Amino acid sequence: MMTVSDVPAGAVFLPATDGIKGTLQVPGDKSVSHRAVLLGAVNSGPLTVTGFLRSADTRATVAAVRALGVEVAEQGDRLVVHGRGWEGLAEPEDVIDVADSGTLIRLVPGLVASRDFLCILTGDASIRRRPMARVLQPLAAMGASVTGRRGGTLPPIAVRGALLKGLTHHLEVASAQVKSCILLAGLRAHGETAVYEPALCRDHTERLIGYAGGRVEREGAPDGPGTVRVWPVESLHMEHVAVPGDISSAAFFIVAALLVPDSEVRLPNVGLNPTRTGLLKVLARMGAQIHVEQGPPAGPEPVGQVCAHTSDLTATDVDRSEVPALIDELPLFLLAAAKARGTSRLRGAAELRAKESDRLRAMAGLLTSLGVEIVEHSDGMDVTGRPDGWQGGQVASHADHRLAMVGAVAGAASRKGVQVDDVECIGVSYPGFVDAFAALGGTSRTVHPTTDASRACSEVHT
Ligand code: S3P
Repeated sequence: MMTVSDVPAGAVFLPATDGIKGTLQVPGDKSVSHRAVLLGAVNSGPLTVTGFLRSADTRATVAAVRALGVEVAEQGDRLVVHGRGWEGLAEPEDVIDVADSGTLIRLVPGLVASRDFLCILTGDASIRRRPMARVLQPLAAMGASVTGRRGGTLPPIAVRGALLKGLTHHLEVASAQVKSCILLAGLRAHGETAVYEPALCRDHTERLIGYAGGRVEREGAPDGPGTVRVWPVESLHMEHVAVPGDISSAAFFIVAALLVPDSEVRLPNVGLNPTRTGLLKVLARMGAQIHVEQGPPAGPEPVGQVCAHTSDLTATDVDRSEVPALIDELPLFLLAAAKARGTSRLRGAAELRAKESDRLRAMAGLLTSLGVEIVEHSDGMDVTGRPDGWQGGQVASHADHRLAMVGAVAGAASRKGVQVDDVECIGVSYPGFVDAFAALGGTSRTVHPTTDASRACSEVHT
């Protein structure tokens, strides 16, 4: 039987009647935080990471490198990772638990694939449904011994490293996690490793390898398919990585500002890596008033400020070639489409079904509950917008942080409020989200779990 303590707290996100307004520094980029710690673990000497995201996913990364024998000193969002090269990595005494982090369970196998020890990884229920053959097969082709549940397709997985040979690999699915895994292994392989990506995926791993003195090159269309090559390195040298604010977290406030009347937000120090800013391009096409100002770069990553104002939006289409640049923001795109004039079409996004939840199915449920007309496809969705907005609705987040935050934005833009069943899962990427949203004018009422619905207690955040 389920007890109250097993049930996460939910919340009702109420209409933001005075608009979403103000300036906000969003927390550090999740993808860059993971990679700074993982590459820091094999750096030659201590690496200071500032602006590090403190969330459930990235805490799991710190725990993982500690389990691999690497010392990490923590002070708020500043970490010092005491890397001692690949030789400093040691066999973990126990199974590594990646919690809900897909990036962690896909990148660690590449990091350890050249080390002659056993590394077993698993994670929560959502992780144990994530496809893993896409990383295990190329690592096996490079020479590592790999296995996993259901014939090497699902976690738990195990890797025993070996002497590796370089590989030429074609990614079937455009995935930065898979690309990064192979590139990390390639840093310790004999000869060149080449990964063909059918669409440009986030390139934080490549940028950090170059920043640390490694050789990495990309050939192909600057914003299309291409081949990334990496060569073995003796050692990596970095002293400091400054993690910029996460554009994927900023995206919730950007879309809230566009959809809620009388809104204007300013988001300084946000990562503006072009492989991550697809949502800004798509929203601009829809008529969004978004102003981007580039600032000085933070180490290998471009950074700047994004301002957004309430806007009337018109429908647009997003196809396969654009998907990777806004993969985590597609649920927000679908919500923006739900308030745009006309029918928007998303295609080539079947990967959304293999994220923390089946995000196409979950968004179909969310939009239908708002009264928006949608047609769900195997790899996308048609959304016919309602420029007059929606009354309210309900969100089953499926314990997916991004779905819960999309529900918050939908509630702020509604006339009566949107109930989200679980806001605790937001801690996976943005533990302070509800307070940050409240500081900008997004009111919510927490619904604490109780066995008796009539006694459900609540508290208001404004
Ligand atoms: C990530 C890559 C993306 C993204 C995920 C983070 C990364 O996954 O959805 O949230 O840090 O490399 P895929 O590369 O598998 O699409």
